[in-house]
Amino acid sequence: MTMNKQMHQRAIDWLNQAADLLRATLDSPLQVKQKQNARDLVTEMDCRIEDYLIQQIRHYYPNHQILSEEGQGDVFPNTEGYLWIIDPIDGTLNYVKEKNHFAILLGIYYNGKPVAGYIVDVMNEQLYYGIVGDGVYLNHQPLLPIQIASLETSLIHGNVHLFIHNRYQAREILNHSLGMRHYGAAGLDMISVIRGEAALYLSPRLQPWDFAAGLAIFTAMNYKMTTPTGQPLDLLKRQAVLACHPAVHSQVLDIIQSTDSEANNNDN
Ligand code: IPD
Ligand code: CA
Ligand code: CA
Repeated sequence: MTMNKQMHQRAIDWLNQAADLLRATLDSPLQVKQKQNARDLVTEMDCRIEDYLIQQIRHYYPNHQILSEEGQGDVFPNTEGYLWIIDPIDGTLNYVKEKNHFAILLGIYYNGKPVAGYIVDVMNEQLYYGIVGDGVYLNHQPLLPIQIASLETSLIHGNVHLFIHNRYQAREILNHSLGMRHYGAAGLDMISVIRGEAALYLSPRLQPWDFAAGLAIFTAMNYKMTTPTGQPLDLLKRQAVLACHPAVHSQVLDIIQSTDSEANNNDN
């Protein structure tokens, strides 16, 4: 399915509106609630952005399905037809503590296949999007793939806990690289791979809304996003994600598979 131009323009307009609202309200007092624990937060702005995007989608595309983090989308969406996958604020902890390094993520899928992905780096006023079959853009300028020679000449991004517990041979991957960086917002960590700043991003337990936008952009760029054992991602499941420049994907899979500990390598 190719991306409909009007749908693309609407998605961009809504995301720009949402990002404007987040910047305009940045200094207002914020209601912050814990979800599972003190690191897992939701604010009224997560719900407000989600509500705004969902209202627009429901108005213009009432037959489309919606999967969204804070629960205002469909209760049991499936992958039939169009599915919009929304993370209203990716990096809520950063949003609360840093007022920086957070994003709005949107992936559009048709019959389970990526059509388009959008990542707004709100404080840098940067809109990244990828349209499958067309290309990847930053603020409407084409982004071309950057050559990466090897893992040995690259930085990597990854979830710190993976390295502490050495899951997926994370320390071995790090030892092969020049060093690790981490934003703490999956969408922005994925963008660092798209921009050629890092060779890969590795994270456990990402939800569909954490990776759907990135997966569509990676697909449009012919980059690789799989589980750490190289399996395709399931759009409706929480799982571990390896987002990679194509030049290093098989090398990284080989490193991960070089451990015989199944517990360390399950795709969660
Ligand atoms: C979180 C961020 C973080 C990742 C977590 C996500 P949220 O998203 O993307 O980088 O490590 O797994 O849950 O909750 O801020 O939207
Ligand atoms: Ca979120
Ligand atoms: Ca997220």
